[in-house]
Amino acid sequence: MKEANRSFFHLNICAFRKEGFARLKGMESNMNLIVAVTANWGIGCENDLLFKISEDQRHFRRITTGKVVVMGHNTLKSLPNGKPLKNRTNIVLSRDTALEIDGVMVCNSIPHLLETLKAHNPADVFVIGGGVIYTMLLPYCNKAYITKFQASPLADTYLPNIDEIPGWTLAEESEVKEFDGLKFTFCVYERVKPAI
Ligand SMILES: NC(=O)c1ccc[n+]([C@@H]2O[C@H](COP(=O)([O-])OP(=O)(O)OC[C@H]3O[C@@H](n4cnc5c(N)ncnc54)[C@H](OP(=O)(O)O)[C@@H]3O)[C@@H](O)[C@H]2O)c1
Repeated sequence: MKEANRSFFHLNICAFRKEGFARLKGMESNMNLIVAVTANWGIGCENDLLFKISEDQRHFRRITTGKVVVMGHNTLKSLPNGKPLKNRTNIVLSRDTALEIDGVMVCNSIPHLLETLKAHNPADVFVIGGGVIYTMLLPYCNKAYITKFQASPLADTYLPNIDEIPGWTLAEESEVKEFDGLKFTFCVYERVKPAI
């Protein structure tokens, strides 16, 4: 989510949550989210990541391998050579109905995504970015794996501050890790109450 659009998205998300929850009635919403954030919840800049730390990349691979990953079209473009992630079922959100990418299932709307996800156990589904998609799908997640970096480089895309969203609680936090002077922790947030 771009900073200038934050309040616009907040309003949109409130409307979306009501509509989305109604649509989801009867369907579980315990998907997961995985993200790396800066100290002020930045997640990216110029369609790239802010940190590329091998321990965090291993953590991401360990948690998502063999699972279903859901991402926005910008995030797919930001991956090496714009290619989907190996050893995972890749689902990409794009409004481009003509879009076809090898090894990727394209969904053109949230209802289309939710219909597609009915074929999978929601606990095996991981929302992997970026800003727009995290913000839209957060209401459908019950668990968030968040790598928190203790630095705030310039960002243009953010995750909503989950510490300020009612219903979420920090369930686990690793010891502080360090790479090249950069400190970070692996956190797991959970919903105290189910999303629906
Ligand atoms: N720190 C992290 O862990 C992390 C993880 C992932 C990404 N990122 C960063 O996040 C940034 C990218 O995020 P972003 O917010 O710009 O883009 P994004 O969320 O990856 O993708 C946005 C795109 O998704 C599609 N989309 C959005 N809403 C849709 C809907 N309702 N139905 C169908 N398609 C929809 C549109 O694609 P079309 O334009 O094709 O219609 C839109 O342009 C990058 O900087 C990336 O490095 C960070």
